Amino acid sequence: MTFRGLPRVRSGYNGRMDNPGSSNGIYLDHAATTEVAPAVLAVMDACYRENSGNPSSSHRAGLKAREELEASRESILESLGAASYDLVFTSGGTEADNLAVAGAILPGRTGITRVLAGSIEHPAVLGSADLVERLGGSFSTIPVDCDGRIEERELSSLELGKTTLVSVMMANNETGTLQPVERICSLVREAGGLFHTDAVQAVGKIPLRLDSFKPDLVSLTAHKIYGPKGVGALLVRRGVSLFPLTRGGGQENGLRSGTENVSLAAGFAHAVKLAVELQDQEAQRLRELRDALAGEISARFSEVTRNTPLDDTLPNILNISFGGVEGSSLAKLLDEMDVAVSTASACHSGSGKGSHVLEAMGLEPALIRGAIRFSFGRSNSSSQLPELLSCLEKGVERLRQLAGTK
Ligand SMILES: Cc1ncc(COP(=O)(O)O)c(C=O)c1O
Repeated sequence: MTFRGLPRVRSGYNGRMDNPGSSNGIYLDHAATTEVAPAVLAVMDACYRENSGNPSSSHRAGLKAREELEASRESILESLGAASYDLVFTSGGTEADNLAVAGAILPGRTGITRVLAGSIEHPAVLGSADLVERLGGSFSTIPVDCDGRIEERELSSLELGKTTLVSVMMANNETGTLQPVERICSLVREAGGLFHTDAVQAVGKIPLRLDSFKPDLVSLTAHKIYGPKGVGALLVRRGVSLFPLTRGGGQENGLRSGTENVSLAAGFAHAVKLAVELQDQEAQRLRELRDALAGEISARFSEVTRNTPLDDTLPNILNISFGGVEGSSLAKLLDEMDVAVSTASACHSGSGKGSHVLEAMGLEPALIRGAIRFSFGRSNSSSQLPELLSCLEKGVERLRQLAGTK
């Protein structure tokens, strides 16, 4: 379906994402990915030029690359206040989640392996269920309440003592809801299990407090924080043993064989440093923007449901269902007006399935289909709100007219 006669935002969005202060449309999909920050690009450019050696080689070129790689590893741990962790570079959050779940259940544990994961986890965690089951273990999900949060009483009914690994994300990528991970981690630890948390969306938005509650495994990725795609990490608390999924030359302390990309690691380290430095200031700015949009939407539109609670959430995500509207049609229409938003998370929005997150929260199918995620970031400012609201009004009105509900 194409939509004619709708205004374009000034000079055209053209697929540019983060362009603070420019008039290149409005990018509101920072939870899907972010543009590489210029300072990060500069670090990677210099690193590509100056470090062409293989960090496993023993000649000077190799040693120089190794030094750069280790400096990046140390820098990430320091920026995140994670002194009690080792860091394994991966290709991103998906690989880190896979390594956490499968790697934690494999090191020769006795008895039946049992994995519990939040029902609103990313598919990179939930998708490991069949692997766990093929290995003879069981994989079950933990229900959430209508805000998408795991309630403590749910955990007490789950026989944590018989569980090898519990995986609960710090912050959800579709709604921004934060989970009580510190409390869950302490209950899992008391019961003798391992606790993994996916912190992909949380980094640079909220303090992680890793050295205070010490989750056993933590997944990270660079491309949500203005770093490059194709690099991430699994933080492994010292003393936790993991089984490697990638076999070969024994790089990354034997946990992830394959020649490391030193420049991506350097870009990742710089992106983490900047994200943490800017965290407080950006969090407040983005929260104000998000709350202003939420307020305007509820004042101007009928039949809207906010799926993001405004407390205990990331500052930058707002998930809203527009009654009588297909979210995918609205997102397409907005894109034609140079406003980029998403429906379910970009990672699986092409699958044609509705959001498993909103379903787990108990939303009616029509509200799930009508959901849109706005995710704010460095390229956004309050000056974009009038334009955004006007595009939204046109889009929603058009779709409701077409559906005959207006
Ligand atoms: C919460 C969460 N975990 C994991 C991932 C996967 O990360 P990557 O794209 O780096 O593989 C994403 C990406 O959207 C995410 O939002």
